[in-house]
Amino acid sequence: MARMTSTPNSNLMSDIPPSPATDGADTEALRTGHIRSFVHRRSHITPSQQAAIDVLMPKWSLPYKNALLNVEQTFGRPGPVILEIGFGMGETTAKIAAARPDDNFLGVEVFNAGVGALLKRIDENGLQNIRIIQHDAVEVVRDMIAPDSLAGVHVYFPDPWPKKRHHKRRLLQPPFVHLLASRIAPGGYFHCATDWENYAEQMLEVLSGEPLLQNTCTDYAPRPDYRPQTKFETRGLRLGHGVWDLIFTRKPS
Ligand SMILES: C[S@@+](CC[C@H](N)C(=O)[O-])C[C@H]1O[C@@H](n2cnc3c(N)ncnc32)[C@H](O)[C@@H]1O
Repeated sequence: MARMTSTPNSNLMSDIPPSPATDGADTEALRTGHIRSFVHRRSHITPSQQAAIDVLMPKWSLPYKNALLNVEQTFGRPGPVILEIGFGMGETTAKIAAARPDDNFLGVEVFNAGVGALLKRIDENGLQNIRIIQHDAVEVVRDMIAPDSLAGVHVYFPDPWPKKRHHKRRLLQPPFVHLLASRIAPGGYFHCATDWENYAEQMLEVLSGEPLLQNTCTDYAPRPDYRPQTKFETRGLRLGHGVWDLIFTRKPS
């Protein structure tokens, strides 16, 4: 990824229309410019996850800033950057990063316990190629990721927001997918997976409709070897859900 010093200031997210929501989404959209795909909730954090945050955060995380990320400074080396949005407890992130030591992984997550859990895994496994940003991924992608720069994007089991009135909170909607696609380098990939059939159909429709992307398969892709089964996937399978992977690539410019 090229070293960049300017700010992209893309306004693509302002394309998200305000919605007639009644659950705080309106106020949120006015304040942030978009409807968030998460809600802040009080969640349990273990003492060891909290300790990891207290001690390891300065070493392996970087703050959200309205300025483009400098890859060499961030990872201490150049190299392909894979962005993962919503890593949850980070077990998949850690496994993939261990199996692909030459790639740099940027994990973005808002959930405290998840950030603590991934920090612990980084430390326990001696992983050098993961950095964390604890912030809304929509703002990170918009403000910190240079156009045409990412080698790949992973979005595994994003919150399905199953109720129809909450679908507006789903992460993978046309304006954000367009923004994300614009940050992927030509030839780079966009890999997402879900265990909600209706969200899989939405993903397929939205990704297929994005002019910057092309599908690597006719529709859904077989799970590639590099993606281990995630925590949410295991839960979904236990509940009898199917699993759908989608792998698209950024078209050559
Ligand atoms: C259903 S969990 C899936 C976690 C993990 N990928 C897995 O498969 O086990 C979705 C995660 O995405 C995170 N998330 C949702 N919206 C986000 C956003 N806009 N920015 C960063 N993280 C987000 C949530 O906090 C949650 O941990």
